[in-house]
Amino acid sequence: MDTRAAVLWKTHSPWEIEEITLDPPKQGEVTVALAASGLCHSDEHLVTGDMQMPADMQELLGFPQYPIIGGHEGAGTVVEVGPGVTSVKEGDPVSLGFIPSCGRCPSCSSGRQNLCDLGQYLIVGKQVADLTSRHHLAKDGTDIGIMCCLGTFAPYSVVNEASVIKLEDDIPLDKAALVGCGVTTGWGSAVYRADVQPGETVVVVGVGGIGINAIQGAAAAGARHIVAVDPVAFKREQAPLFGATHACETVEEAFALVGEITWGAMAEKAIICTGVAEGSMIASVLALVSKGGRCVVTSVADIKATDVTLSLFELTLMQKELVGGIFGGANPRKDIPRLLRLYKEGKLKLDELITSEYKLEDVNQGYQDMRDGKNLRGLIRY
Ligand SMILES: NC(=O)c1ccc[n+]([C@@H]2O[C@H](COP(=O)([O-])OP(=O)(O)OC[C@H]3O[C@@H](n4cnc5c(N)ncnc54)[C@H](O)[C@@H]3O)[C@@H](O)[C@H]2O)c1
Ligand SMILES: [Zn+2]
Ligand SMILES: [Zn+2]
Repeated sequence: MDTRAAVLWKTHSPWEIEEITLDPPKQGEVTVALAASGLCHSDEHLVTGDMQMPADMQELLGFPQYPIIGGHEGAGTVVEVGPGVTSVKEGDPVSLGFIPSCGRCPSCSSGRQNLCDLGQYLIVGKQVADLTSRHHLAKDGTDIGIMCCLGTFAPYSVVNEASVIKLEDDIPLDKAALVGCGVTTGWGSAVYRADVQPGETVVVVGVGGIGINAIQGAAAAGARHIVAVDPVAFKREQAPLFGATHACETVEEAFALVGEITWGAMAEKAIICTGVAEGSMIASVLALVSKGGRCVVTSVADIKATDVTLSLFELTLMQKELVGGIFGGANPRKDIPRLLRLYKEGKLKLDELITSEYKLEDVNQGYQDMRDGKNLRGLIRY
């Protein structure tokens, strides 16, 4: 099939719209016609190099990571199934989970699909079945990788059945797209990884597509105070519409505010959702957290970064927890349909998350708007 896609040829360069050819789906794969794709910050890490595989790893694999088609937050309709596919058929509406879930590996079979063994291929760019490509440059056949085993910056993609979750027929696919990454990651960061309990005080640092959903998740879990922290005024204005009770510009400001509203006890939970995770911010965010409290790092850091500043004294003697989280600790096969059901019943906001829509050709504008703090979420509609 001939189609087109937004391709990144190297770090620190714009997305280029290229004519591509798609092979038919092989064993266990499906072709999906995308309805929409969200513009998540994680694709920006491919641009900045934060998600660039180390050279020795690329050498070991025997193929380069770039060129790569971006996009890992999508939904659409199955248009062709390869041999052996059993969970979907042609015409089915599907969400594309950015983390594949095979259902059989130790993590999947113990209820932790977000840690599926196939996750090892997230930034490798190839098909999980055989580490080859179904996506090629039309003019010379060059193999092109796909972000998170998906490549949703294209009207069509070939993906493994492990990345595909069948949806009910009446779900609007543009909204379902957002649940493939940002909504579930943010909501789950609060509900599962932070394990927010009714009556708790929660701080969400960074109010983008992920943080705004961490706010929704904390509100759904019954938090008493939800403090949104973001330097951008638009984000602080939006936060209360999703359940934030307070908003401030910096973590330092939040420290004073949280001290005041908790009478010095501080927040039970803090969730880091800034554009890039930085080791230098951990000490100040951990200081927002009470004894016995927990700080969740959902933001992605530079793959090469290893330095973290924090008070180990505080960590030990105040029994604080610092934890990571992928896909908000959620199970894609359970939680994607679950969140979409909440949306249908008016208990989860999705329509309000989409600040601006773009054509595929305008993907670079979409990312500029994200960098400029103009979007809760930008969306490409096909
Ligand atoms: N762990 C996962 O499974 C997972 C999944 C998706 C995205 N992510 C990561 O989550 C992060 C957020 O993604 P997004 O799409 O919401 O990004 P975004 O760019 O939409 O939002 C980031 C927000 O952080 C704010 N910010 C930046 N520096 C800040 C600071 N020092 N203090 C407070 N706020 C600050 C920005 O103003 C912006 O509003 C990214 O690192 C992304 O890669 C992780
Ligand atoms: Zn994402
Ligand atoms: Zn698995």
